[in-house]
Amino acid sequence: MIVSFIKFALQRCLPATALQSLRAAFHRWRDRVALRRSTAYDHRRFADGAGLFRAETHAPSIEASLIKAYHRIEKGLALREPRPGFGRDAVEAVLLDAQRLLACLGPQRSVTRALAALDEYVHFHLVHGVDLAWLLPRLTALRQAQGRSAIAGEGGIVLVERARIHAAARLDLADFFARRHSIRQFSAEPVAAVLVAQAVVMAQKTPSVCNRESGMVHAAFEPGIKERLLALQNGNRRFGEQAGCVLVVTSRLDTFLSVGERYQGWIDGGMFAMSLVYALHSLGLGSCCLNWSVEPEADIALRRVGGIPDDQLVIMLLAVGHLPERLRVAQSPRRPLDDVLKIL
Ligand SMILES: Cc1cc2nc3c(=O)[nH]c(=O)nc-3n(C[C@H](O)[C@H](O)[C@H](O)COP(=O)(O)O)c2cc1C
Repeated sequence: MIVSFIKFALQRCLPATALQSLRAAFHRWRDRVALRRSTAYDHRRFADGAGLFRAETHAPSIEASLIKAYHRIEKGLALREPRPGFGRDAVEAVLLDAQRLLACLGPQRSVTRALAALDEYVHFHLVHGVDLAWLLPRLTALRQAQGRSAIAGEGGIVLVERARIHAAARLDLADFFARRHSIRQFSAEPVAAVLVAQAVVMAQKTPSVCNRESGMVHAAFEPGIKERLLALQNGNRRFGEQAGCVLVVTSRLDTFLSVGERYQGWIDGGMFAMSLVYALHSLGLGSCCLNWSVEPEADIALRRVGGIPDDQLVIMLLAVGHLPERLRVAQSPRRPLDDVLKIL
């Protein structure tokens, strides 16, 4: 009431240009306040959701710390000439995290993988005649506590051949990329959950920081849930409702362990989402990324509808569906190469 009165009075009293400047100044002030609120919201989510302040007590964060530690060993062993004696601090971290995890959850797949990395570490050092008296009894104790020996193919390193990599990579990816479009018309054919699952498995091969795999997908096939999710997003009008399935791509904050990793969720989650888009494309499904560039209220509402935990970042939504026989797509021309590639 008061706001309407002030608006009315200003419109009557001020010339149009002054009114415009006033409106612009108001919008700038409003955006500054919104930015401060939204940044505080992001800060709180990271502080509470990341493993930063609960790396020793929260089981998923202990596991992330374990993966990070045993991956340091894997990385060391994957170098051209690993240095005998390397990574003792990483081994100590693996032993500590594995014990913590076993104490929290009992035998775990990640401990099996850690044991595989440690076995490779031991093998490398035995071949190089390095004494591991400090490690061997503790490794035996860990193996006993885990109750399973390392499973072949689960962790450690593996020898691969260039010819095999090149043979598998010999695809016409330029055409594959060029023929992917954001799809804004879908056919009525339902999307099989098994296809989405297949795409997610493919997307899991996306690189992630220390292989901690923060990416997750929440898939909605049920019309009511799809509709409620799409209603919260501003870029799907007049086509979202045709999608056979709506995906919410998230990134698990509890896999991030330091202040420096405060943006890692956006990076790993974004890369995971990109792989997912290409995986869906390879399986014959069309998709359209749907931005999640929102302020706290919308984010909270989406979490409520999708049951998305507080310790996950929402990266984007994806509308997914089968393609009609013929359809129009936006050309979306790209910048010239010179604008994008700078040789240093
Ligand atoms: C993070 C992200 C958010 C997007 N959000 C929307 C959206 O809300 N609505 C929409 O129609 N398209 C959206 N897009 C699709 C872009 O408009 C599209 O990718 C771009 O124009 C390039 O076209 P192409 O995907 O067909 O190559 C989004 C894309 C990305 C990567």
